[in-house]
Amino acid sequence: MSRPRFTSRTTFFVAASAAVLLAAYLFWSFEPDVRALLERRMGDNPSPSVDTMISTIKLILLGIGGYLLVRALNFFFFALAFRLKRFDAPTLVRNIFTIIAFTIFFLVTFTILFPDVNVGALFTTSAIFGVILGLALQDTLGNFFAGISLQADRPFQVGDVITMGAQRHTGVVEEISWRAIKIRTFTNHVVLMANSTAAKEPIEVFPRDNLNARVVFFNTLYTDSPAKTIHVVREAVRETDNVSQKVTPVVRIRNLGDNGVDYEVKYWAEDYAKFNDTDALIRQRIWYAFRRAGLNFAYPTRTLYVERHSAAAVRDGKDGAIVERLAAVDLFAPLSVEETGMLAQAAVRHVFAPGEMVIRAGDPGSSMFVVHNGRVQVQVNDNGRPRTVATLNEGDFFGEMALFTGEPRTANVVAVEETEVLEIGHAAMKGVFANNPDLVESLSFIMAERRQGLTSQADPGAATANSKAGLLSSIKRFFGI
Ligand code: CMP
Repeated sequence: MSRPRFTSRTTFFVAASAAVLLAAYLFWSFEPDVRALLERRMGDNPSPSVDTMISTIKLILLGIGGYLLVRALNFFFFALAFRLKRFDAPTLVRNIFTIIAFTIFFLVTFTILFPDVNVGALFTTSAIFGVILGLALQDTLGNFFAGISLQADRPFQVGDVITMGAQRHTGVVEEISWRAIKIRTFTNHVVLMANSTAAKEPIEVFPRDNLNARVVFFNTLYTDSPAKTIHVVREAVRETDNVSQKVTPVVRIRNLGDNGVDYEVKYWAEDYAKFNDTDALIRQRIWYAFRRAGLNFAYPTRTLYVERHSAAAVRDGKDGAIVERLAAVDLFAPLSVEETGMLAQAAVRHVFAPGEMVIRAGDPGSSMFVVHNGRVQVQVNDNGRPRTVATLNEGDFFGEMALFTGEPRTANVVAVEETEVLEIGHAAMKGVFANNPDLVESLSFIMAERRQGLTSQADPGAATANSKAGLLSSIKRFFGI
């Protein structure tokens, strides 16, 4: 591809040189005639003078010729130097050579052709010229000096892979000129970045003569042994093309992920510019190695917890566990299945943290509770300190005293651990009592016993009997039965 370009450029160069030589030869040969012609045309007092015009034409011709000469010298000098010493001069150096050589040539020619003009003064005294030049060349000079520092530092060279710019373009460096860095990306696009921009931004370099590492990710099922996986993958990867034999690939677990065990394999590339192909080949090799070793890639998995509902609960539209819990409470043992179902439907679930108070002594209360899960303690105030009078477990009930007598709560009830309770209100209990008058008696007996636990009395038997009779009548009164 570069050969035809070279030929056409050379042809153009030779043709241009021949044309300029011819023009110069003709001009110098016929200079007296041209001068006579101009003098005749311009009259006696031409401005600019005929001499100036002749010198200007000569300057233009010599300028073009000089430029072509400098390019030719540049080509022979650097091509020769490259061939003889195997030294590849960077484009920037060649450009600087061209600029300096041409400037010197031009100034010398100018001084010879216009001996009256003081070139030094022209540059030093013209402040406006300096400002205009400075402003116009601001970016160019920035790039130029950044380019010089790049050449001096040589952080990377032609052939290295680099990642540069805000868009993180990655590619192989093709050229570092006085204006920009040129890279060819792995999609065969050319990206240019001005030297001055490159000087300000971080550039990641993967030098050509360096063992650059890459990391490829994969995963396995949790049931696959890590030791086996690591061994199998390491052997598969070290055999892959472009993976350096000098350093053994590293395979390790990087995370215990949602779907499986996440691994990474780090390898060192012989030619970093081919990393895309090598990464792909490594993934392919891992697949085949997995197949032979009976290992499996992980795929998205979820653990599902399925709750089973009893037929009765489905029918009643209530959680079956509540029905079962209430049916197991001694107090409700005489109730029919329908009545227990009705109670369950009226029950409201509450969860309390360890240490939280479910009931506070002295508060009014119009509901009772059944411990569904967990444990509570019944505590009374003993000279300013809490004293535990009972611990109630799953299936036990509390809060019945305020509910059935209308009096304030007699004690604090505190959750010992995370506890779920079922709250049953006044209305639901009234319906149950109306159908089961016997319940009132057994309830009043339990309540009497509990009361006795709250106050330590001398004759428990008599107190219980008294208390029971009193409770029975107050419950009946309160519920209107
Ligand atoms: P109530 O008075 O509504 O609120 C506090 C509850 O603690 C009370 O109802 C009883 O249910 C319960 N309770 C009080 N004393 C005892 C006890 N000795 N044994 C078990 N539970 C009790």
